[in-house]
Amino acid sequence: MRRAGPEIDVLAAALRVSRRTVVLTGAGVSAESGIPTFRDPQDGLWARYRAEDLATPEAFARDPRLVWQWYQWRREAIAAAKPNAAHLAIAALDRLLPSLVLVTQNVDGLHQQAGSRSVLELHGNILRNRCSRENRLTDIDTRGTSKPPRCPSCGAYIRPDVVWFGEPLPPQILAASQAAAGNCDLLIAVGTSSMVMPAAGLIALARSAGARFAEVNPQETLVSSQADISLRMPAGEAFPAVLAALD
Ligand code: OAD
Repeated sequence: MRRAGPEIDVLAAALRVSRRTVVLTGAGVSAESGIPTFRDPQDGLWARYRAEDLATPEAFARDPRLVWQWYQWRREAIAAAKPNAAHLAIAALDRLLPSLVLVTQNVDGLHQQAGSRSVLELHGNILRNRCSRENRLTDIDTRGTSKPPRCPSCGAYIRPDVVWFGEPLPPQILAASQAAAGNCDLLIAVGTSSMVMPAAGLIALARSAGARFAEVNPQETLVSSQADISLRMPAGEAFPAVLAALD
């Protein structure tokens, strides 16, 4: 584990006095579990695939089989992945702090697997399915299918329960995330490029309410210059070190 550096101690000190903490995570928190991010220039999903062909309602209407197969491929990769040291340390923080709200843009369920009790999933969860017409969740077994099954009640296609480009976020989850961000005293953004709204807007919301803003990311992002605390390192190194420094 990385030895406590000054920035780790600063974040640990901020957590020690925080009464209402929000952690906002993105694809980078799962990178060390082997799940590709979206915007990495080499391995990112959007460097290799066109979002317009795979992650929009229009793409699904045009070619449901292609979209389904792409999600089945991602599901297989996610099923083989395990929570990493960052997921585990964030779950441990959740048990340690007076109030931690975990908001994620990830659809992989790894925070829950690591033991985080309540996770606000802004972009849905790839492991769930719902009817594309009625939106009702279904537990129909889709393993090994190469085309989308039909909804048993209305016959429309079943789709993954994720948010596609051009679709609204689940309103209650977005509202709960915005309420938490607008009422926190410390927001930590981890592994997100902070380019996608409305998720990235939570940072501005927290800052305008007077919260401190910490960023954990090996790369600079659009919001790095606004950070009060910057941990320019992988989440899997940063969080266990912060946890150790808190003890
Ligand atoms: P991005 O791929 O845009 O950004 C991932 C971020 O993680 C980058 O800033 C990396 O520098 C950082 N990163 C990489 N490895 C890391 C590590 N080990 N530890 C910490 N950070 C690391 O992913 P998101 O910001 O999550 O939406 O993307 C937001 C949304 O855009 C996604 O939820 C998805 C995508 O289109 C939908 O599909 C609706």
